[in-house]
Amino acid sequence: MKDPSLSALSDITPVKRTKPEAARFYSGLSDFYGILAWPFERSVQLAGLRLLAPSNGDDALEIGFGPGHMIVQIARSIGPDGTVCGIDISRGMCQTARNRLARKGLLPRANLISGDAMRLPYAANSFDKVYIGFTLELFDTPEIPQVLAELRRVLRPGGNLAVVSLSRNQGPAWVVRLYEWLHLRLPRLIDCRPIHVRGSIEKAGFSTLSTEMKRVFGLPTELVVATRY
Ligand SMILES: C[S@@+](CC[C@H](N)C(=O)[O-])C[C@H]1O[C@@H](n2cnc3c(N)ncnc32)[C@H](O)[C@@H]1O
Repeated sequence: MKDPSLSALSDITPVKRTKPEAARFYSGLSDFYGILAWPFERSVQLAGLRLLAPSNGDDALEIGFGPGHMIVQIARSIGPDGTVCGIDISRGMCQTARNRLARKGLLPRANLISGDAMRLPYAANSFDKVYIGFTLELFDTPEIPQVLAELRRVLRPGGNLAVVSLSRNQGPAWVVRLYEWLHLRLPRLIDCRPIHVRGSIEKAGFSTLSTEMKRVFGLPTELVVATRY
C-alpha cells in the first residue's frame, strides 16, 4: 500500500499570500496571538520540544517563533552556556518575543532577527537543534523543500530537527477537507493548511528518529524529530 507520508506534495493546497502580507498579518496579531493560540497548542508544542531535547550548552534555532513561548522554553533548556537564535518574518513578533525573554531574564542567551526562513542568515553547521512549530505549513508547497534544505544546511551533522505541524497523513478526512476548504476561501485568515510532514522531512535528507500524532482543534498534528546525517 502506498505510504501517504511519502506521496507527492501536489495534493497540498497552495499558499497565495505574499511575504509582505504575511509579515503585516502577523505583526498585526503580535500582541494577542499568544493569548489565542498558546492555550490550545501548548501541550503539543511542549511534547515536540521534549522529543527534541535541547540540552545544556546547545546552539539552538527556532523558525517562526511568534510571540516567543517556545523560545523561552528553549532558552531555559540550553542553560547559560547555550545560545538560541530565532528568525521570524514579523517585526512585531520579534518585539513581543524579545519582551517575553527580557521579562524572564533570558535575553542574554537569545538572538532574534526578523527575516524570511527561505534564506537563513546563518553559516552552515551552526546549530545542534532546530525547532519549528506551526510554521512549516505556512510556506507554499514548492517552498517547503527549500526551507527544509536551509534547515539541513545550518544543522551540524548529527544535529536534530523537530517539526510540529498540521498533518495530512491521518485523521477523519472531512476535518482536513473542511480546513482546506476554509484555507482556500479565507486564505488571509486561515493561513496554514495540513501538509505531509514526515515525507517532506525525509525527502529533504533527514532520517526520522521519532514521530507522534496528536490533535489540535480536532486536526491531526504531526510531531517529527529527525536527524541530519
Ligand atoms: C502560526 S504562527 C506560529 C508562531 C509560533 N511558532 C507558535 O506556535 O506560537 C507562524 C509564525 O511564523 C512566522 N512566519 C511566517 N512566514 C514566515 C517566513 N517566511 N519566515 C519566517 N517566519 C515566518 C509568522 O510571523 C508567525 O510568527
